[in-house]
Amino acid sequence: MKTVAFFDTKAYDKESFLKYSNDDINIRFFENKLNRDTVSMAACCDAVCVFVNDNIDKYVIEQLEKFGVGLVALRCAGYNNVDLKSANGRVKVARVPAYSPYAVAEHAVGMILLLNRKLHKAYIRTRDHNFSLEGLTGFDLRNKTVGIIGTGKIGQAFCEIANGFGMNIIGFDPFENKDFSGKYVSLDELLSTSDIISLHCPLTKENRHIINSETISKMKKGVYIINTSRGKLIDTASLIEGLKSGKVGAAGLDVYEEETSLFFEDYSDEIIHDDTLSTLISMPNVLVTSHQAFLTREALNAIAQTTMKNLEDYFSGKELENEIVI
Ligand code: NAI
Repeated sequence: MKTVAFFDTKAYDKESFLKYSNDDINIRFFENKLNRDTVSMAACCDAVCVFVNDNIDKYVIEQLEKFGVGLVALRCAGYNNVDLKSANGRVKVARVPAYSPYAVAEHAVGMILLLNRKLHKAYIRTRDHNFSLEGLTGFDLRNKTVGIIGTGKIGQAFCEIANGFGMNIIGFDPFENKDFSGKYVSLDELLSTSDIISLHCPLTKENRHIINSETISKMKKGVYIINTSRGKLIDTASLIEGLKSGKVGAAGLDVYEEETSLFFEDYSDEIIHDDTLSTLISMPNVLVTSHQAFLTREALNAIAQTTMKNLEDYFSGKELENEIVI
């Protein structure tokens, strides 16, 4: 029997993974994230299974190799948290390339609807028997321009929903997708003509802080910025400046630059020491959700099925179809 250490696991992970587990794989669930301090927990395991905020750097890879751990099975699509160069030839890395692009796209659209129609305020008002409409005015989405940065699976799913709203859809992607049903434009044109910008590209060295003071200065006044991809795509200090000046009309953030030590945990009885996040959360036109865009039943089941298949294929020596090769 093979043993797999599952890091950063929550109740919903256990529920979906136990549905698809088999007798040949012994799963050890840990709540800790995998990093330099916790890598010793993987000793005696054959593989590890990790999520978006585990940190698989050079040291962790070296330790995993020493313990005889042969596979890092990511239960997510993004892999910016794995040092692939160090892993090359030492430990295999596999991921779940697609599980439900709809889950993420629908969450992005939900953020737009909430921010535009001030549903967060309306919810609190009516619970307080305040039925005033003052300050709740939004705008029609129909005929507005939405710019999609990254037109892969999620970007295209987002595009289809935006199409249903009758929006004018433009996209920027260095590798154009033949299935994209919006109109491709340059990044500068997207920045200067979009009423709403939604980020759907992976985090790479090249696009870190793609949203910064310079790119924000090119945007329309009052632009909405939605990020369900990775926190480091946005320079948060520049975003806050943009929000303060009114250049940015609203921001929907499912991811945040410094989310690793906060997101997925309950700190409701504690003081948060991240003043940048506290500033964002205090703003009436900012919605922060804690990396929950993927969280639908369908996505969790698909993640569990594909991850278990990756593990089974690896253990049985079959070709690892979802291996990340550099
Ligand atoms: P995908 O690989 O299908 O599409 C990504 C697209 O981004 C590709 O077409 C690629 O060419 C493009 N791209 C790469 N660099 C770019 C750049 N600098 N500017 C513009 N486009 C660029 O990936 P998919 O499935 O659509 O996922 C996109 C991202 O969404 C993932 O990398 C991940 O970071 C994020 N994600 C977030 C989740 C959440 O729960 N918040 C869940 C799943 C994914």
